[in-house]
Amino acid sequence: DERTFVMVKPDGVQRNLTGEVITRLEERGLKLVAAKFMQIDEDLAQQHYGEHEDKPFFDDLVEFITSGPVMAMVWEGADATRQVRRMMGATDPAEAAPGTIRGDYGLDLSQNVIHGSDHEDEGANEREIELFFDEDELVDYARADEPWVYEDESH
Ligand code: GTP
Ligand code: MG
Repeated sequence: DERTFVMVKPDGVQRNLTGEVITRLEERGLKLVAAKFMQIDEDLAQQHYGEHEDKPFFDDLVEFITSGPVMAMVWEGADATRQVRRMMGATDPAEAAPGTIRGDYGLDLSQNVIHGSDHEDEGANEREIELFFDEDELVDYARADEPWVYEDESH
């Protein structure tokens, strides 16, 4: 199955939305394989958002993402990167559909609660996972509901 990198951003942590984000992904059938509660330093922030280094909002983005703790995670499932992006909603919470995480909780372009790897950027998920986690921090296990989630005929 595919793995994707997800992060509850500083605004999400401060507003006590970490559990809500985890619950939504869990209940959708995605499997948590790694998690790290941490504060991102400037160097890591610049690497993580390197694709945006020439954008006018880059300095604000780095400042915001390093402004408080985040919950960095790896989630696994069929088509996981695209599914998480669908659940996140549009980048700008004002445009994000109700029912999506950003549509329900996001405040503005910076304070949009969650990051997920870009499904249109080939390999972004693997690059981001590698940036935040060592291989031995990814836990390999079966979740009890997998036969239901994947419609295994054995249940
Ligand atoms: P991430 O999951 O955080 O990467 O968001 P995204 O993939 O939906 O959007 P994108 O990668 O294009 O932008 C990264 C982050 O930069 C966004 O989450 C926003 O917080 C911020 N951002 C994007 N566009 C703008 C903008 O036009 N102005 C400002 N101030 N921030 C922006
Ligand atoms: Mg992005």
